[in-house]
Amino acid sequence: MTLDLNNIVANMLHHRQNTIGTGEPISPPIVQASTYKLPAVPEGEYQYGRVSNPTWSAAEQAIALLEDADVVAFPSGMAAISAVLLTTMRPGETLLLPSDGYYVSRLVAQKILAPMGVLIDECPSLEYDSRDFNDYKLVMVETPSNPKLDICDLQAMAAKCQAAGALLMVDNTTMTPLGQRPLDLGADIVVSADTKALNGHSDALFGHVASRNAEFIDGIREWRTISGSIVGAHDAWLVHRGLETLEIRYERMCANAGIIAARLAAHGAVESVVYPGLESHAGHELAKAQMLTFGTILGVTFKDVATAEAFIDGSKYIVAATSFGGVHTSAERRARWGDDVADSYVRLSLGIEPTEALWADMLRSLDAL
Ligand SMILES: Cc1ncc(COP(=O)(O)O)c(C=O)c1O
Repeated sequence: MTLDLNNIVANMLHHRQNTIGTGEPISPPIVQASTYKLPAVPEGEYQYGRVSNPTWSAAEQAIALLEDADVVAFPSGMAAISAVLLTTMRPGETLLLPSDGYYVSRLVAQKILAPMGVLIDECPSLEYDSRDFNDYKLVMVETPSNPKLDICDLQAMAAKCQAAGALLMVDNTTMTPLGQRPLDLGADIVVSADTKALNGHSDALFGHVASRNAEFIDGIREWRTISGSIVGAHDAWLVHRGLETLEIRYERMCANAGIIAARLAAHGAVESVVYPGLESHAGHELAKAQMLTFGTILGVTFKDVATAEAFIDGSKYIVAATSFGGVHTSAERRARWGDDVADSYVRLSLGIEPTEALWADMLRSLDAL
């Protein structure tokens, strides 16, 4: 079946109108309730606030339409990732993680799973191809990896996992379901930090787990209910609202990333630019084949730390912040968190600013370096 993203987005925008009656609000109400009226025999979808909430349901339904899968929402990306790792991994089983992916996923493995007897293996995304997957229960992939933006072949990884009897979990945070569709490429599980582009406004933490395996999703939902790792109603509402503009925000952000990547690469003050959309990127052909867009994030290396910081500080339309995927262009040197990149490597997350205003501002900063 061919992918019909336009209708996926339109259905997501209109999902609520099929469930409401005359006089009901078009946007989902923020249901701020810990408990619900529940006489005699417990029945109905909403009984107690740790189990379910209508505002979460609205956000989950919208994301489920984007993923074309069942979805369970969590209060952060890490809560979603932890839910999968803690429900799936058992003592004596082995987990493979990217050594160049988001470092907090590795901390969950090292600080929580390893002491429980789970075996942890880490390797760079680019070496997944040559690994033997036979020993693994779960393989986690992040592509493009954060922050180096290396690309891993999802179809090949799904085939390897299937042959080895391992589960493939993809952290799709850097791409969103509009930029890359790991479940369509054979992954078993998608996790995402919706704190980033899905919400997009830098005002809520949120995450989700998506899968087309109903039994697996039941286990994740049960984990949420038992562990109490639940979303606040107001955050769910913010994310629902953010989702409604995701497509147009994402389009502008990707366009800004593509145009500005090429211009930065041609500027004398820049040593190098990493962006999957550039022909110079080692994974460019793979990116073209498996990604629907080239994403919103660039890696920009300057000659030294001072120059990198001066570029960020000198640009009034770049906010110095840790995170990405927001409407405001933002940047930081990832080495400050210990990531395995050059000290002068800046992760630049493109926002929705008008392209030429953004570039004129960056150019002023670059020319002054
Ligand atoms: C790729 C990736 N996955 C997961 C997370 C965790 O998300 P959160 O901060 O919402 O827990 C992040 C956060 O930066 C991330 O970049």
